[in-house]
Amino acid sequence: MPELSHQLFQPLSLGRYNIANRVTMAALTRQRAGRSGIPNDLHVEYYSQRASAGLVVTEGTFPALSCRSFPGQAGIETDEQQAGWERVAQRVHELDGLIFMQIMHGGRMSHPDLLDGALPEAPSAIASGTPVHNFEGKVEAPVPRALDAEEIPRVVEQFRAAARRAIDAGIDGVEIHGANGYLLHEFLAPSSNQREDEFGGSVDNRIKLPEMVIRAVVEEVGADRVGIRFSPEHNVQGVIEGDAETTRATYVQLLENIADLNLAYVSLLHKDAATNEMIGELVQAIRSNGETKVILNTGFLEVTDLDDANNLLNSGRADAVAVGRQLIANPDLVLRWEKTLELNEPNASTFYVGEAKGYTDYPFVNEDSSSSQ
Ligand SMILES: Cc1cc2nc3c(=O)[nH]c(=O)nc-3n(C[C@H](O)[C@H](O)[C@H](O)COP(=O)(O)O)c2cc1C
Repeated sequence: MPELSHQLFQPLSLGRYNIANRVTMAALTRQRAGRSGIPNDLHVEYYSQRASAGLVVTEGTFPALSCRSFPGQAGIETDEQQAGWERVAQRVHELDGLIFMQIMHGGRMSHPDLLDGALPEAPSAIASGTPVHNFEGKVEAPVPRALDAEEIPRVVEQFRAAARRAIDAGIDGVEIHGANGYLLHEFLAPSSNQREDEFGGSVDNRIKLPEMVIRAVVEEVGADRVGIRFSPEHNVQGVIEGDAETTRATYVQLLENIADLNLAYVSLLHKDAATNEMIGELVQAIRSNGETKVILNTGFLEVTDLDDANNLLNSGRADAVAVGRQLIANPDLVLRWEKTLELNEPNASTFYVGEAKGYTDYPFVNEDSSSSQ
């Protein structure tokens, strides 16, 4: 249906911005920032190559060392890291792109080697049961340390400070990572949050930290350049949301609580995003203020292709789609989709390693004669 597919390439107003098309680059961890966490020339090249996406969202970036989850993860804690991002933002802007930073606290999905010897922080002292990374490779997940209630304001301030630094670096906005089994998701789910204080137990208590983070970041940089990402029922990294009614109640309440803020967008990841009943309800809650846009993605099981992107938009639920692996492999994906040109295939073996290989060396369509039709 060409007229429907056309919608993908139409502009959209998103918070204080207008984005050129509805193909947004999903946050993608690529681990190219070394031990320093400072974005380098490769990051400048990689992100600017993808500047034709309506919105580029960066890899999950740590606000402070205590939040780091991966070797090679980029940070936004120090002046040097901020300066690295400034170069990225500048080059993306020279190419008329728009870039938000995903701010991520890895929670229990970390290892003391990445944290200057400290134990990972989590809502409760429960290991994920799935491997984590250290500098050598994948290792068994340690039992994390449960955050004291007195430490919660420090975590909130880390998100706030990171958002401030991102904006000061010239990044256009921030996306708070509330998905995929990392800290904020760990607080939302009863399986990983077994606290008995005001941050655990009831719906109101489990949503408290994510809501505090959102409000602090909004206060710092303004809601019209803040997005948040959630993945209800994703059931990854030991964060299991097995009770449908509890999950529904948790996310509906959180989204209703923050509706008054008029965030730029809420990004949802769900394998049946176009049809799932709960997602339909969440989309309604998000849109209840008439301002906040919805970005959808169907998760890891299948690589999002053009048909999937159109399906999400045609469902009427998504204002834009988040696209990951096809944008890794095709820096000029928007052009290729619009003109139905052949695509490069993503190589999963270089997602997290390889420096330039599999990062900045995927060819553009006019550099690769085999790709043009
Ligand atoms: C290599 C890789 C790294 C990822 N890193 C992140 C991340 O840092 N933050 C996040 O929210 N999602 C992350 N994801 C999930 C993607 O944003 C996206 O939801 C997923 O890849 C499914 O979309 P796709 O089929 O278009 O690739 C990652 C996925 C991949 C493949």
